[in-house]
Amino acid sequence: MAPRVAMLKRIVIGGIVMGAEEFRWIQSAQSLEQSRVMRFLPEMRPILLNYFGLAPGMDVLEVGCGPDTMASYLAEGIAPGKIIGLDLDSEFIQRATAKAQLRAISNVSFLMGDAYHLPFGDSRFDAVISYTGIGVLTNPEVAVEEMFRVCRPGGTISIAEAVTGRLGIGFLGMDSVSDEELFPGAERYHELMEDIQASINTSAIPGVGNKQWPSGAMFALLGKLGVTKIRFNARGYGSAPDDERVSAAERRQWRQNEHRSQRQWLEELQNSCQTISMRKKYAEVIELTQTRFNWLRSHAAYDWEAGVSIVVSGIKPLSL
Ligand SMILES: C[S@@+](CC[C@H](N)C(=O)[O-])C[C@H]1O[C@@H](n2cnc3c(N)ncnc32)[C@H](O)[C@@H]1O
Repeated sequence: MAPRVAMLKRIVIGGIVMGAEEFRWIQSAQSLEQSRVMRFLPEMRPILLNYFGLAPGMDVLEVGCGPDTMASYLAEGIAPGKIIGLDLDSEFIQRATAKAQLRAISNVSFLMGDAYHLPFGDSRFDAVISYTGIGVLTNPEVAVEEMFRVCRPGGTISIAEAVTGRLGIGFLGMDSVSDEELFPGAERYHELMEDIQASINTSAIPGVGNKQWPSGAMFALLGKLGVTKIRFNARGYGSAPDDERVSAAERRQWRQNEHRSQRQWLEELQNSCQTISMRKKYAEVIELTQTRFNWLRSHAAYDWEAGVSIVVSGIKPLSL
């Protein structure tokens, strides 16, 4: 539920990798997978395929695929075409490959690689797509240029981002069906969380739920490259560990993971605080997250978040 701070353990400046440490994305594979369950429901597949401009027989590249939250999901809709998922985090790639093998999905494969230097020749794909993989980059324009390069003339380029949380178009569940049942300290908790969100909104990296990736920038990046027939689509989704479509065991695990990562996120922010008063504020909210978590385990409440996936898509012209 809570956004996590995006910290790249390896510094990438202008596409040049600084330092020998292997790249690890800040969000865990489980957290990414869980937060995507409700975004990629089977009944929504045709809509997303349409928004991404995908059709059967296309060869597709997904940039920043994570541990495979979307590539396999779309694969069925493009067969006999193939989709390659690319990500800089090798653990995500290993996990994605193992999952696809287990599920015997034959038209999807995964490759470790850098969005700034796509390891493919020009015009290799019919479509190049990304879901929350571009807004997180320091230099999104370099990655979009690369996407453009490896897309064939007449092919489709799509950038998708998610807008969640109170500062976006989304909503945050108030943890209760009625005011009388709010957990002790709920109002203070939400007040503090809103304060925190507002204070980090200006400094955080876009695309990881903190600073929102400006949708205008997506248009501009594609337009600057000469992409034509640009379309803008938005699709809402709900995301809830209380949803009955998720098994009881998974729901428990989901809530636990959410709680753990929220706490970790708040502790990281607390450690970077300059003033005692801010540290106190964080200590208060951290305690309240524990109260909330305990309360949610024993009460019939609904803990949910809603958001919107924005897909900007266009065509690489036949001649520039
Ligand atoms: C917010 S996650 C999105 C993952 C997946 N698309 C999803 O929505 O579940 C951003 C992804 O971009 C990847 N990433 C970050 N920098 C990258 C780069 N330079 N090249 C390729 N992937 C990168 C991260 O490893 C991470 O998997």
